[in-house]
Amino acid sequence: MSAPVEIRRLSTPQDLFQAAAEELIRAATDAVGQRGRFTIALSGGSTPRNLFTLIAANASTSLSWPHVFFFWGDERHVPPTDAESNYRMAEETILSKVPVPPANIFRIPAENPDAPAAAQSYEQTLRKFFAPAQGEFPRFDLILLGMGPDGHTASLFPETEALHEQSRLVVANWVEKLHTYRITLTLPVLNAARRVAFLVSGSDKAAVLHEVLEGKAPGEQYPSKLVRPSEGKLIWFIDRGAASQLSASA
Ligand code: 6PG
Repeated sequence: MSAPVEIRRLSTPQDLFQAAAEELIRAATDAVGQRGRFTIALSGGSTPRNLFTLIAANASTSLSWPHVFFFWGDERHVPPTDAESNYRMAEETILSKVPVPPANIFRIPAENPDAPAAAQSYEQTLRKFFAPAQGEFPRFDLILLGMGPDGHTASLFPETEALHEQSRLVVANWVEKLHTYRITLTLPVLNAARRVAFLVSGSDKAAVLHEVLEGKAPGEQYPSKLVRPSEGKLIWFIDRGAASQLSASA
């Protein structure tokens, strides 16, 4: 039975990043205290930049970095040095600024020109690290997600093949409108997480956020709707702009 969805409305983008940073630090402290480690899958795009910067500034001493393990929810099909790389953005904003051991950073090998092979390799990395039982999925302590203006999340885009994957952990998803592969965790992995946090900022996301949280359209059209952790917490961090087309009760 899925836990109830938590929608945290914040006024400004800065308030959103502050609230998300506090949640991340809470999740990390709980996880390390209970299981001796904190596993997080980072989102990409532009929204998380400010969150990562805030964490690096505030938590460089307060988190037990040797017990923090970084993964990615998705990656563009580019080398880690590319301006489009989600890894590069995280490296610039947080990984280069906190004392996390390099061995704790598990980058998606998206420089491989064979995208399906890169996905397969990352799947092996996850299976080796989490050692899930047969038929089980890795349980990340926290998965950060963004939502695109078309309702996609990670690299699960509307009407794409990856939305239907029920057994693989990681796939190379061909995104026709971008004319490129993206490498992404699959929905079973997102929905196995202990905690999923969406960060959605700005009025350009308002119409789609209304569709995702209150609309009746199928999840294939708005894949963010398909993220509902079966035994985990789902929190939406949204600012005033993103919330502007939600009903008062949402
Ligand atoms: C990516 C992300 C993607 C992102 C959304 C929102 O690789 O781009 O993982 O899912 O979270 O597109 O991006 P913005 O935060 O930049 O709007």
